[in-house]
Amino acid sequence: MTKHQTPIDPALIEAINGPKEVAKTGKRCLMNRRQFLLTSGITTFTVMVALKAGPASAKVPAVVSTYERKHIGKLSGLKEDEPLDFTYPDDGAYSESMLVKLGREAGGGIGPDKDVVAFNYTCTHQGGPLQGTYKSEDKVLGPCPLHLTTFDLTRHGIFISGQAYQSLPQVLLELDGDDIYAVGMFGLIYGRYDNLKG
Ligand code: FES
Repeated sequence: MTKHQTPIDPALIEAINGPKEVAKTGKRCLMNRRQFLLTSGITTFTVMVALKAGPASAKVPAVVSTYERKHIGKLSGLKEDEPLDFTYPDDGAYSESMLVKLGREAGGGIGPDKDVVAFNYTCTHQGGPLQGTYKSEDKVLGPCPLHLTTFDLTRHGIFISGQAYQSLPQVLLELDGDDIYAVGMFGLIYGRYDNLKG
């Protein structure tokens, strides 16, 4: 036993292993498998209690972001490849967005053909305006007037060329009968640290 080791109380050894073990070990420092398991269990229990009792974190209320459910158009009113502009999730900076029926199935698309999608208009690179850049033949937005990034609207707005390295934020849609609603965002809008704080 080194001077840093503490001898185990024989009463404890007896309680765990019975009198034979005490006779065998006396006051020697000995930790057999059962003692080790017991000690480990106590340690684990202490950590669990500490976590459960956990300080202030347990009292911090959860923050839940809720997007407005906003009516943005009617399915019957959409014409293929003719974007409809709207703002979302508010009317603040960089909220300009577009709703379009692509005529081709797309990720996140709604409607019988799953081809109606919506995207924010602001380039994720340095905020270039993408209004008026929709290309019906390729179903893309772009190239961006600043550094030429182009975004694929059939694949959740992923960039396919240019300087941006983040997808275009997609507006999540819901169809209720003939009515189309914006109900959330997938991706962070350029210029915001929180989509709901424009
Ligand atoms: S701002 Fe659009 S590519 Fe740079």
